[in-house]
Amino acid sequence: MSLAPDPIVIQEVALCDGLQIEPAWVPTEEKVRLADALSGFGFSRIELSSFVSPLAVPALRDAEEVFARVRRASGCIYVALVPNLRGAQRALAAGADELNLVMSSSDTHNRANMGMDAGTSFRAFAEIVPRALDSGVGLNGTVSTAFGCPFEGPQDEDRVLALVERYRALGVRGVTLADTTGMANPRQVEALVERVLSLVPAEDLTLHFHNTRGMGLANLLAAYEAGARRFDAALGGLGGCPFAPGASGNICTEDVVNMCHDMGLTTGLDLPGLIGLSRILPALLGHDTPGQVAKAGRACDLHPSPGTQALRRQRKA
Ligand code: COA
Ligand code: ZN
Repeated sequence: MSLAPDPIVIQEVALCDGLQIEPAWVPTEEKVRLADALSGFGFSRIELSSFVSPLAVPALRDAEEVFARVRRASGCIYVALVPNLRGAQRALAAGADELNLVMSSSDTHNRANMGMDAGTSFRAFAEIVPRALDSGVGLNGTVSTAFGCPFEGPQDEDRVLALVERYRALGVRGVTLADTTGMANPRQVEALVERVLSLVPAEDLTLHFHNTRGMGLANLLAAYEAGARRFDAALGGLGGCPFAPGASGNICTEDVVNMCHDMGLTTGLDLPGLIGLSRILPALLGHDTPGQVAKAGRACDLHPSPGTQALRRQRKA
């Protein structure tokens, strides 16, 4: 008898990574409506917003209000992205369940994105950790550009591992490796994930892929084969870092869930619900979204046969 494969945990990031790059303002009530709908689909983790400078990311300037108004589903952890102490104080006051601290392996990207170097980021994190632990709030640390930087190019694996260890030494339990601008390939992912899993248990490691160069799902599968079980994904494949040239969407939640379910991997998520919600995004945002399954439907959603005569008529027309 073969054992059932481990379930895959997907953290939904459309409201944060997804909306942060949108040029059109999404009203707070629409964000709350999206979040409440997502909460009903079985997520155990939703990244709800970020507490960054409203000048840097105006699209998420309503983070406090979003946290205050969302109807929280029991069993779901509502995560806040945090760049510095000020952001952590705001996120704690807003009642975030977990702080996702973010810095980049590339100093050039960290300066472009956060206006500081790695040392400055970690000095802030050292002040944040005791405050979060005192409040019983979870901690995750993201290493952005872990698979490549649009300014510096390839990133040294040893440096990425050292940053992972630095987070863990501070008392940050969860770690995310982020492919901020979709520069990773599956072989590279397999190698780095294997090394990081020697430092961090699979339940604490998240992989964050962007589909910038069409390798997002291949990278997810490579990470899964190497032992990773937690992934970020965004409804509709929205997303991107506003401070990285050529950034484009996260791997698409409903495409990931569809692939997993077709492969017999469980996610605990409501795929028809996700597809239905994704289909409202183009009207909300004013543009098409990159996800595939919301357009094509699932492979099991069969079409009525047009019949031979109808096919002939179509060919003639
Ligand atoms: N939330 C709100 N305001 C903040 C803030 C935060 N987390 N951190 C700093 N500020 C305010 C300061 O109070 C200050 O305001 P003032 O001019 O009215 O006094 C102003 O922003 C500048 O502060 P400073 O500490 O000099 O920050 P900075 O201008 O160097 O910016 C960050 C640093 C980290 C706040 C900014 O680069 C940022 O928000 N980056 C996030 C980018 C992002 O979200 N990328 C995508 C996700 S990874
Ligand atoms: Zn991202």
